[in-house]
Amino acid sequence: MRAGTRTPEDIKVKGQLGPRALRVLIRVQELVSARGSYDYVEIGSFLGRSLQSHLQDADCRRALSIDLRPDTTPDERGAMDIYQGITADDMIAGLAELCSADDLIKLETVTDTSDILRDMEADQFDLAFIDGEHTHTAAFRDFLNVLGVIRPNGVICFDDTTLVLTGIRNALTVLETRGVPHAFAFGRGGITVVALGKEAQAFIDALGEGMTIPEGRIERRTRRRMQEVALREAKPHLIAEDPKVRDKAIAALRADGWVVEPASTNEPA
Ligand SMILES: C[S@@+](CC[C@H](N)C(=O)[O-])C[C@H]1O[C@@H](n2cnc3c(N)ncnc32)[C@H](O)[C@@H]1O
Repeated sequence: MRAGTRTPEDIKVKGQLGPRALRVLIRVQELVSARGSYDYVEIGSFLGRSLQSHLQDADCRRALSIDLRPDTTPDERGAMDIYQGITADDMIAGLAELCSADDLIKLETVTDTSDILRDMEADQFDLAFIDGEHTHTAAFRDFLNVLGVIRPNGVICFDDTTLVLTGIRNALTVLETRGVPHAFAFGRGGITVVALGKEAQAFIDALGEGMTIPEGRIERRTRRRMQEVALREAKPHLIAEDPKVRDKAIAALRADGWVVEPASTNEPA
């Protein structure tokens, strides 16, 4: 299957990427493959939902899947064990039901963190997707590792913008301070798209209508989401600055049996 003929419904592998996110990722893939053959790397594959369309794309030469597959994954929402027990072989077996042998030849899997990219030479990939550990720190670290191997006009996407926005902001700051030409957009479905190189703005503009979300809305959504996390996971440091919101949040935490003072204590009472 060539890019341009694909829809979210074509992606049959199970996972958490919803149709909006898939639509943005497919559009990015179309734009990258329109330039010719490309190499893809992703951090965080789980069952391979984000890999399927690249493996099936005639323009994709190589797809590197990096997934640590830990029992417990740190996350801004609190540790997650929902990915537990799925191996790279399980993922490959699932993909083999949908992809041809020729598709699967492109796939390389590594059970490790993105730090392994530091051992690689520069200029290896045209497109990267960061969807591993959903913490600000890990998203930022994954970005720095990807930056060492992405080609000068490459594209780097992040999943779950509102969870790792601080990591994404740090990434953009690195590009600015290093003077790397780039442009970015907050895509629908939680996908942030960062394009590099002289054509970066043209790439972002080409994403098209209905694919992106204004920055102000992302900021508001992020604040709301962090507020929810603060309340649910008892992370007082995430509670908003607004005194009214903060007092309400702290009262809710206390009612839930959490000790929120001193601020560093977040163990249940
Ligand atoms: C949200 S899932 C990935 C979803 C996948 N992209 C999809 O389309 O369904 C996150 C994955 O990141 C992996 N992971 C957790 N911590 C990681 C780390 N430090 N480095 C790389 N992968 C990690 C987990 O094992 C899990 O499979």
